[in-house]
Amino acid sequence: MGGMEPEGLLHGKAAIITGGEGSIGLATGRAFVAEGARVCLIGLLADELAAGAAELGDAATWAVADVTDSVQVKAAVAGAAEAFGRLDVVVSNAGIAGVIAPVADYPEDVFDQVMAVHVRGSFLVCKHSLPFLRSGASIVITSSVVGLTSAAGICAYATAKHALVGLMRTLAKETAPLGIRVNTIPLARHAAPEEVARAMLFLASGESSFVTGTTLAVDGGMSI
Ligand SMILES: NC(=O)c1ccc[n+]([C@@H]2O[C@H](COP(=O)([O-])OP(=O)(O)OC[C@H]3O[C@@H](n4cnc5c(N)ncnc54)[C@H](O)[C@@H]3O)[C@@H](O)[C@H]2O)c1
Repeated sequence: MGGMEPEGLLHGKAAIITGGEGSIGLATGRAFVAEGARVCLIGLLADELAAGAAELGDAATWAVADVTDSVQVKAAVAGAAEAFGRLDVVVSNAGIAGVIAPVADYPEDVFDQVMAVHVRGSFLVCKHSLPFLRSGASIVITSSVVGLTSAAGICAYATAKHALVGLMRTLAKETAPLGIRVNTIPLARHAAPEEVARAMLFLASGESSFVTGTTLAVDGGMSI
């Protein structure tokens, strides 16, 4: 059987990545495409999404969608699933940091926006992806070290990232009977995007076939 190419970890799989034009999202796209996946980068910035997809080549497409907007998320997810004819991997990764301020001074509009992007955004991305997912699919939600710990001044971000762990655990239980796995990745501040992308690849692929409902800390021990 000479001439057979070795198959990548995501051979034949189709993925969407929100925050796909950002540092971790694009590094994850690169890692997924290198392992045989087709990838749709979803985010806010058309020029950066187009440049990222162009770099990834024929295996990549892109769509603008604000993850806080249900109609936009539904259209982007359905568009990717239709273009690829399937959907196997969902990386809910779009995020914003907010500001640094104590709770007593924290601006309410910033609090609401941080919660909306992370919590409502991940909820909508999962909700609108689920109709397309089948047994063997994997959802990865990017959390943070401060989804497990916290620090002064980051109430909105830490609260949102903790909430994502709750969303992940609930969804992991709901989808286990369907053969769908759901996990979060808490990240350290100084991890290289490529180091995070390799962990995304592990959770997205069959290499983690018995891993669901867990938080995988890619943080150099920062959360211990
Ligand atoms: N970089 C770190 O050190 C670190 C640490 C912990 C957690 N994280 C998390 O990792 C994820 C990715 O972060 P990153 O470091 O790549 O940052 P980044 O700023 O490079 O990427 C974030 C992406 O999210 C997109 N985005 C923001 N709001 C959006 C919205 N409403 N709709 C759609 N897209 C939106 C941005 O356009 C951007 O592409 C985030 O969830 C972040 O909170 C990062």
